Amino acid sequence: MHPPQESKRPEDSRKHRARRNFLGQALTAAGTAIAAPSLLNQTTAAQTSSPAPGKGEMSVTLNINGKPQTLAIEPRVTLLDALRERLGLTGSKKGCDHGQCGACTVLVDGERVYSCLSLAVMQEGKQIVTIEGLAKGDTLHPVQAAFIENDGFQCGYCTPGQICASVALLDEVKRGCASAMTADLTNPPPLAKLSEAEIKERLSGNLCRCSAYNGIVAAVQQATGQTPPSPAAAMLVQEAGVSA
Ligand code: FES
Ligand code: FES
Repeated sequence: MHPPQESKRPEDSRKHRARRNFLGQALTAAGTAIAAPSLLNQTTAAQTSSPAPGKGEMSVTLNINGKPQTLAIEPRVTLLDALRERLGLTGSKKGCDHGQCGACTVLVDGERVYSCLSLAVMQEGKQIVTIEGLAKGDTLHPVQAAFIENDGFQCGYCTPGQICASVALLDEVKRGCASAMTADLTNPPPLAKLSEAEIKERLSGNLCRCSAYNGIVAAVQQATGQTPPSPAAAMLVQEAGVSA
């Protein structure tokens, strides 16, 4: 079983580099999956005040990306709305708001959660990690890097949820969790042998309207330590004009 690894795949050409730089910049500009950590810290730093609860509100302290954040909110406020509307953490996206698309996926105590279906007041005492909290300083999480290197997105709207779900997926596999595609429930596959079908099944709760699925699967394959990406993903990358 191999842990997810930092991508070390060399850049193949100037064109290759230029495209990836563009993709990274595009995501940063969109404030979605791979925003500059220092920029995001500025956003959250401005949200640390703890206002007194108003009528119908309650005070709740959430641990988000390693920082306690105290909010006065109504009990009906979802975690997604608390993140986006109250804390300025807009990386988590609202797609359907009904638990159907996965765009709002975040990690709560290491488990993937649809934040649109979770009440913020129920998350007190838990460790919440959003897309903004995955990078370490200026170093991207290996899954973030893998999404860039494998063109695991197009518009990027679903990407924060896809990445958070993929991070959880890797941990689930390490812990020996089975999926509906696991043939032998007593012997779930390790990361190194996780099949394309397994990855697709395990990410089936995250939809991509741009249908960037081949790149997403390739990114997860890379994050598992598998190389090269699947032939289908490699073909997609080549069609996009990037050397595989
Ligand atoms: S916005 Fe939460 S699942 Fe679609
Ligand atoms: S990249 Fe556009 S919705 Fe997935």
